[in-house]
Amino acid sequence: MAKKKVVVEAAWAEPFKIKVVEPIKMTTKDYRLKCVEEAGYNTFLLKSEDVYIDLLTDSGTNAMSDRQWAGMMMGDEAYAGSRNFYSLWDNVKKYYGMPYFVPTHQGRAAEHMVSQILIKKGDYVPGNMYFTTTRLHQELAGATFVDVIIDEAHNPDSEHPFKGNVDLKKLDKLVKEVGADKIPYICIAGPVNMAGGQPFSMQNLKDVQTFCKEHKIKMWFDATRACENAFFIQEREKGYADKTIPQILKEMCSFFEGLWVSAKKDLMVNIGGILATRNKKVYEKARNMVVVYEGLHTYGGLAGRDMEAMAIGMEEMVEYDNIRMRVKQVEYAGKQLEKHGVPIVRPIGGHAIFLNANKFLSHLPKEQFRAQTLASEIYIESGVRAMERGVVSAGRDPKTGDHRYPKLELVRLTFPRRVYTQAHIDVMVEAIVKVYKNRKNVKGLKMTYEPEYLRFFQARFDRLK
Ligand code: F0G
Repeated sequence: MAKKKVVVEAAWAEPFKIKVVEPIKMTTKDYRLKCVEEAGYNTFLLKSEDVYIDLLTDSGTNAMSDRQWAGMMMGDEAYAGSRNFYSLWDNVKKYYGMPYFVPTHQGRAAEHMVSQILIKKGDYVPGNMYFTTTRLHQELAGATFVDVIIDEAHNPDSEHPFKGNVDLKKLDKLVKEVGADKIPYICIAGPVNMAGGQPFSMQNLKDVQTFCKEHKIKMWFDATRACENAFFIQEREKGYADKTIPQILKEMCSFFEGLWVSAKKDLMVNIGGILATRNKKVYEKARNMVVVYEGLHTYGGLAGRDMEAMAIGMEEMVEYDNIRMRVKQVEYAGKQLEKHGVPIVRPIGGHAIFLNANKFLSHLPKEQFRAQTLASEIYIESGVRAMERGVVSAGRDPKTGDHRYPKLELVRLTFPRRVYTQAHIDVMVEAIVKVYKNRKNVKGLKMTYEPEYLRFFQARFDRLK
């Protein structure tokens, strides 16, 4: 039985109780105004202790279970051949179905290695929308990234159930333009972070595979939040309602030559990453590279205890009650905001609510960084920390040096797993509704400092008068 009988009917009641608590600071609006000014109106530069509810990211911010903490005590900190490495490898085989694996300190380290191994200068890498670190590693390896996601993904109001799907016409166009030999692989993420946490369908993977086989193009998977994608397939795709999350996850992975995972998400740990593949040659290269950049191939920049927590987290991530609560909690938050008319990306995604800043702050010119402005206004109002996912994140075009204005100018409210309660969400909703009601008085920002790479992390702004 896939959809285990739900014992507690409440929309997303937690399948756990709280055993340890971490106090958080309540602050005043005057105090927060000072904090955000010091942080250059960039929520990445705020001190965490000045944040009340931290929805910046779901990356590494999750609450581990008592089993995971117990596993941490079982860390085998040997330099070589740690026991924990082998339990993690067993679970990589069991849940992702990949025979070969190297651990990494986080997802981007695996992205770096995959890009360096597979890409030649002058190549093109198609993908279902970009992710910041993924695209940068592809570009640094000498490739040009090409977005081949379906058009609906760029429309925040489209109700398409699988906005993460690849548009085969776009892929075909690219192959005709540059030739398949210039395309080392297609990079598919699911759900698609920058599109609003939108999943792909299994049918789409099948179609992409047929195309890629014909043109001898490899498929690689950013499986960072793959369990959420599996949950959406179970909920939405014909023929999958009776399959279990582990079955769906394994079927998804079966289409790919390899994958990487930022373990800081699905696996509910604070640090860690995975590079896994069924291609022995790629594995051998990765195993050799990991010792240069990360550490020995049996720890990859991690402590033995971290790998044990990952191995146990992998077992918990596929539990139906756990993944259901995770996705339904996000849905609860989105539905509350929609009740008040706050413009959000539809359908509600897997890990986050995305506010449509172009609609929310439509009175500001786009040059005044609508999403960046909105994220700082929400912090000032409530101490809730969100993240810009618009032009600042998109960065500059490497060829022209101009801002890349994406169609989606969003603020992401991302939910750490097993961390916040329904009351926290209600506080967040109240604060955002207040900013929404007062939106016409909001002033924009101008950028005063911009680092060369991944500028959203460290850029600084001033508030316009
Ligand atoms: N791929 C996706 C889809 C991600 O969301 C992230 C990280 C990475 C790769 C890189 O992994 O951080 O472990 O190096 N996303 C975080 C976020 C930072 O907030 O969405 P990492």
